Amino acid sequence: MRLRLAQCLLPMAAGLAAGGCWAQDALRGKLLYHDVGRLSGSGVNCIDCHGGVPGGLHGIGRAAGRPEVIEAAIAAIHQMAPLRGRLGRADLLDLAAYLARPDVPSPDLRPGTVGIDGVFVRGERVAFEVTVGGTAAATVRIVNAGTIAVRLRSGPRIAGVHAGLFDVTASDCSAGLELAAGRACSIAVTFRAAVPTGGLRSASLDVGHDWVGGGTALALIGHGVPVR
Ligand code: HEC
Repeated sequence: MRLRLAQCLLPMAAGLAAGGCWAQDALRGKLLYHDVGRLSGSGVNCIDCHGGVPGGLHGIGRAAGRPEVIEAAIAAIHQMAPLRGRLGRADLLDLAAYLARPDVPSPDLRPGTVGIDGVFVRGERVAFEVTVGGTAAATVRIVNAGTIAVRLRSGPRIAGVHAGLFDVTASDCSAGLELAAGRACSIAVTFRAAVPTGGLRSASLDVGHDWVGGGTALALIGHGVPVR
């Protein structure tokens, strides 16, 4: 980070256009804006209080291209106290670069499912319904609707109390995959309505990546319908 930053600042100091370097910083700033709570351990994100920008709430627009305004706000504003001591110079520069360029090209991951008609339905929840003893299948799709690629850090992982009832039977969402803008990857998931239990079972399906949240998660809800 430091190295890249130094390379970026040199042409600026020399009065030259910073070019792609600026965009690079703004992209990391966008990530921080949405995810600084996780990445710095502050537990709060700029977006929580200042909204999705542009315009922004609480005068945040004043910090566009001005890291010192963010620094002063963190020091002075009571609500921003959780951020104190957590952001370095590079973080402040990147946040200010993002506020100056909120339309910076970025990934935009959208999870959803594919119906039997092949139509993609966006959503963070997959519902299965099957007679007890049977198995139901669904296809999850993760679409990158953004304008640049995102790298997947893991393949699909199922976790939660009833993880054992859900299975990934096929997936091309694999660790290391660079999901280009406009592309999608798919995960085939099944739910087994184990005998003799009826009722609702749940787990979560997660794919790790290097964008906001560090991963995309879907809730898996399995409904075992008792045989009549
Ligand atoms: C828990 C809520 C909260 C969070 C999280 C938060 N802020 Fe703020 N921030 C505020 C409030 C409230 C104000 C306005 C205070 C006022 O106007 O008196 C403010 C003001 C500001 C200002 C304006 C300072 C000025 O001079 O007018 C900037 C810039 C700013 N915040 C940047 C950020 C950035 C960047 C982040 C994320 C790293 C962040 N804030 C996270 C609540 C928050």
